[in-house]
Amino acid sequence: MTSELKNKTALVTGASSGIGRAVAVELAARGANVFLVARRQEPLRQAAEEIARSGGLALPIVADISRTAEIDRCLAICREKTGRLDIAIVNAGRGLAGGLLTSDESKWDELYELNVLGAARLMRRCAQWMVEQKGGDIVVLGSVSGHNISPFSGFYGSTKWALASIAEALRRELAPKRIRVSTVKPGVVESEFQAVAGYDRENFYDTISKYGSLLQPQDVADAIAYIVTRPPHILVNELVIRPAGQDYP
Ligand SMILES: NC(=O)c1ccc[n+]([C@@H]2O[C@H](COP(=O)([O-])OP(=O)(O)OC[C@H]3O[C@@H](n4cnc5c(N)ncnc54)[C@H](OP(=O)(O)O)[C@@H]3O)[C@@H](O)[C@H]2O)c1
Repeated sequence: MTSELKNKTALVTGASSGIGRAVAVELAARGANVFLVARRQEPLRQAAEEIARSGGLALPIVADISRTAEIDRCLAICREKTGRLDIAIVNAGRGLAGGLLTSDESKWDELYELNVLGAARLMRRCAQWMVEQKGGDIVVLGSVSGHNISPFSGFYGSTKWALASIAEALRRELAPKRIRVSTVKPGVVESEFQAVAGYDRENFYDTISKYGSLLQPQDVADAIAYIVTRPPHILVNELVIRPAGQDYP
């Protein structure tokens, strides 16, 4: 454990697996008290236990970030338990294989409810709280598919384009108040993401086989820890991180 983030409170959505879990563990290892949010109770409990074993403080909250009332409940719990929110990691999200023609249209609404509307509602509420307390960091998980147009996940990519533009607009809105908003855009990270998105050999794995070693969630967690531990006068506005062999998107 280090103490860089001692006395800071962090909220990490999507903390039951992949990037969110790794970020929660990393921030706790640097001294932050961490709220871990996701829908599945058991993996959240396990992540919180791992943090507690290394001497950190973690509080799991079971909530669905695509539902406004659950976002409000989640933030009410944070307010009650700590009264502060220093770092918000807006990470919960899901993928969807295919473009406009080939993606499963029955999943479009749910994708926008979570990746765009849920994320934006969470950002708005965290930002309001941070304005009140005069400081804070918001880190938003975009994607390289929201940086370049993706040939194999174009519809999912559209949610990340929307999210990145909301994040940048929020950054401009909050800069005069010295509240930092950063967007992290990873390339392919090995996690539960690929299975949830419905990727298979034909629509994904054949294309990425030439990338070589993929990113691991810890690689992204290290990048996010770097962002939130910069001195207050520095903002890492946007960080694109890819497997070294990923040429595109
Ligand atoms: N993996 C990649 O290649 C990649 C690349 C670029 C960007 N990203 C972005 O990075 C973020 C994390 O992805 P990941 O790779 O870590 O995927 P992951 O392993 O599938 O993790 C997604 C997390 O989001 C949570 N989640 C899903 N729906 C939710 C909901 N409605 N409410 C609350 N939590 C919800 C999941 O937990 P529950 O199922 O327990 O709710 C899980 O903890 C996503 O925003 C993704 O778009 C991923």
